[in-house]
Formats: sequence, structure tokens, C-alpha cells
Amino acid sequence: MKFYITTPIYYVNAKPHLGHAYTTLAADVIARWRRLKGDDAFFLTGTDEHGAKVAEAASAAGQEPQTFADEVAGEFQQAWKNLNIEYSDFIRTTEPRHEKGVMAFLEVLKKNNALYEGEYRGLYCTGCENFITEKELVDGLCPAHKKKPQEVAEKNWFFKLSKYLAPVRRLINSDKLKIGPDSAKKEALGLLKQGLADFSVSREKVKWGIALPWDKSQTVYVWVDALLNYITARGYPNLSPGAWPADLQLMSKDILKFHAIYWPAMLLAAGLEPERELFAHGYFSINGQKMSKSLGNIIDPNDLVKEYGADGARYLILSQFPFGQDGDIKVEKFKEQYNADLANGIGNLASRVSNLIEKNFDGAFTKKEPRASSKDFDALLAENRIDEALKSVVEGFRELDKKIDREKLWSLVKEDKAKAGKILSDIANEILALAQKLAPVLPQTAQKIIKQFSAKQIKKGESLFPRK
Ligand code: MSP
Repeated sequence: MKFYITTPIYYVNAKPHLGHAYTTLAADVIARWRRLKGDDAFFLTGTDEHGAKVAEAASAAGQEPQTFADEVAGEFQQAWKNLNIEYSDFIRTTEPRHEKGVMAFLEVLKKNNALYEGEYRGLYCTGCENFITEKELVDGLCPAHKKKPQEVAEKNWFFKLSKYLAPVRRLINSDKLKIGPDSAKKEALGLLKQGLADFSVSREKVKWGIALPWDKSQTVYVWVDALLNYITARGYPNLSPGAWPADLQLMSKDILKFHAIYWPAMLLAAGLEPERELFAHGYFSINGQKMSKSLGNIIDPNDLVKEYGADGARYLILSQFPFGQDGDIKVEKFKEQYNADLANGIGNLASRVSNLIEKNFDGAFTKKEPRASSKDFDALLAENRIDEALKSVVEGFRELDKKIDREKLWSLVKEDKAKAGKILSDIANEILALAQKLAPVLPQTAQKIIKQFSAKQIKKGESLFPRK
């Protein structure tokens, strides 16, 4: 079965941080799990490189926007490599394949009578890359960015969103466009109820962007440009069968409105199918505060990889709190958790069991046919309950550890070797089964365990997770 999963494309105004890593890792886990099940999974991520926000960051760095974007996009790619993320494609919105697709799409919108010319007078927050109303301000500032918005008065091309609100509501209500978790679905329906104004698809005063094909004095509004990555990466306007719609689009709830309302509306207007499922995970803070440059509390995922290895970092990032809920990350807990769950948990168990088998049974145990993958585990991942799926595996390893203690295997091997051998074989088979489940989340560890426990002669080997 084909399966197409996406992450948002990240702004290149700054380096990748833990927030970006969180979504990208989640997508990686789901894509890897699908592939292991035999699905033909396509996983897209990338970078959002146009617009005022990126242009301002480049100018502050004293660089041309393209040079600046090249550098930061490279940092995203490097970070994903360090985290062992296996994307199928990485799209950058400054690539010709994307720019061509965007122009073609806008032509279609125009031809389908979904656009009209008008004037925008109001406020714009560069942090959000979005128009903002007086009502939304808190003490005159954008609440998300604590920045004063700019006053804008300019000619724009507008998208007739109003025409598509009812169809989009029907899609969401009927779960033809499934939105999870439930809170996100409610939020999207709430927004639709409030009514949303038509939005601009072009900007007159922003130079760093894709020129509107029929009016070169305008550039394509950065959110329209960005959303289209999900189809341009798949070859739009020449989409091959099965390339669209996406099966699952991940993001956090900060950008739900764009994905749950603007995006399906744009697709409908162009005669394309809406995405099948959106899942908006929570937004996390660091020690109770928003992660931000000015607070200096930005966590660089590369630092976590340096400290804990790719698998250690993957584990720590994904296990913090339920996928789909907001949470707070306590950085000082990372080490404790790494030691408890990985070094003293999975790692210690693998070494205990391999050691017992090596010392007492010449490195051999009775292998069972591997079980087909577990229903419970698959069901959790199919519902995007990544943290729970992961926890169930870690818990499985912990149970085995307890079993060794309960049975006092280290002395049982001396008293009743046959019985000890049977229990150890069960445990070793169980370890192999758990390693299969671990594979999408901790791929390197799973591979090491599988290699170690599938060998003709099992050896204790090096420790999987050195204690910190
Ligand atoms: N460029 C737009 C997205 C365009 S998609 C067509 C954008 N970029 S962003 O760089 O700001 O990335 C936002 C996304 O990064 C969030 O939706 C989420 O996936 C991830 N996160 C960034 N900070 C986060 C947290 N503090 N917590 C959880 N995820 C966060 O918006």
C-alpha cells in the first residue's frame, strides 16, 4: 500500500531546534514503521525559504537571502542526518521544480475563478507570516511573537475562501478529512464557525518570493507558496497516480488553521483531492518557558545526539509527553531518563541475557518462529500514539528484566539448567520480538540487538547505551 506522510517545511530564518526535530522524528517513526510493514511509504520534509521573515533574517546576517537559505537548509539536512532520519525527499521552496509548480497552481486558481484583485489594509505579523486583526492583539502586540505588527496597505490578489468554507466543513465533519487529536478537530470546526475572511495569495511589498505569473509586481504569499510544497514535491502539475493525496500530514497546532482550512480549500479550488488526515501534536515549552532565541533556551538536537547518540536523542525527544498534547520539557531530566530506560533498561537487559547465554549455554538458545508484528503496537502507531507505542516496548524490556530477577536466573542456571535454559530462550525470543518493534524508533539499537541475538553463537558484546 502506498503511504504518503509529510512534516511542515521549516522556515530557514534560524537553525533547526528541538521543536522541528520533534515533528520530523515522529514522521520518521511512522514512515519507518510503514516500510517495515511492507508499505510503500513516501516521507517528505523540507524548508520554507521565501517571504519577509527569511529576508529579514538574511539581511540581519548581512547575506543575500539565497545564500543564507542555502546555509540554513544545509543545517536542517545535517541535523536530520545526525538524527538518522530517513526522508524520501527534501523540498526547498527556492528550487525550480517548486517554483514552476507554484506558478502553475496559481494559474489554475485564476482560471477557476477562485481569485480576485483587491486591496489589503490592516496589520501583518512577520513572525507569523500572517495578517492579523486588531482583535487578536494583546497590548498592541502579536501574542505569539510579542512583536508589534506592521501596518500594511497594498494591492493583493485574494483567494475566495468564503466559497469553500462549507465544503471544507463537510469534509472535516464527515472525517473525509480526518483531523486528530479530537481537540484539533474541534478547533478547526470552531474556526470555521467563526467565519474566516478571504486571504491574500500575493504580496506587493515582499520581494523575496515567487513572482505571480500574470503580475510580476507581486510575489506569491509565503503561506500559499509553502503549502504547495506537498504537491510540487510530487511533481505537480504532473502528479502521477497515487502521488496525491497525502495520507498523513503532521504539524503542531500553531499552524493548524493553514492546514485544516486554507490548504483543503486551495486544493478544492484547483480540482484536487484534500489531504486524508492531519494530526496536530502539542507545543512544548522548556522548563516552563517558550523556546526562544531571546531567552537563550533553544535546544539544538545535534547537542543531544552528541551526548546520547542518535537513538538516545530519538528516544528522549519522542518520549517526553503524549503525542498530541502540550508538554513541558525538563532538560535536567534527560540524563536520568536515559540512564533509567536505556542504559539500565534495554542496554542492561540485552547484556545480562547475552552474558547468561554465552556463559552457560555456549551462546545458543532455542529459537521460535518470529511472531507477526503485534496488533496492540500496530494499533497504537496507526492512531499516532507514538509515545505510548514506545513506552509499551520499553515496558516490555523492563518486564523481562523483572522476570530474570524473579526467577533468579543467575543461580537457577546452576540448580536446574534445563529449566533455566527454557526461560532464557523465552526471554531471548521475546527480546528479538521487542527489537522488531523498536526498529522504527531506535533503528540502530534494534539492528544491533537483532544481529546479536540472531547470531549462531551469542556473545555479550559492547554495551548498547553507555551509562552517563
Ligand atoms: N514554514 C511554516 C510551515 C509551512 S508548512 C507548509 C512554519 N515553519 S516553522 O519553522 O515555524 O515550523 C513550525 C513547526 O515546527 C510546528 O508546526 C511544529 O511542527 C514544529 N515546532 C516548532 N516549535 C515547536 C515546539 N515548541 N513544540 C512542538 N513543535 C514545534 O511554521
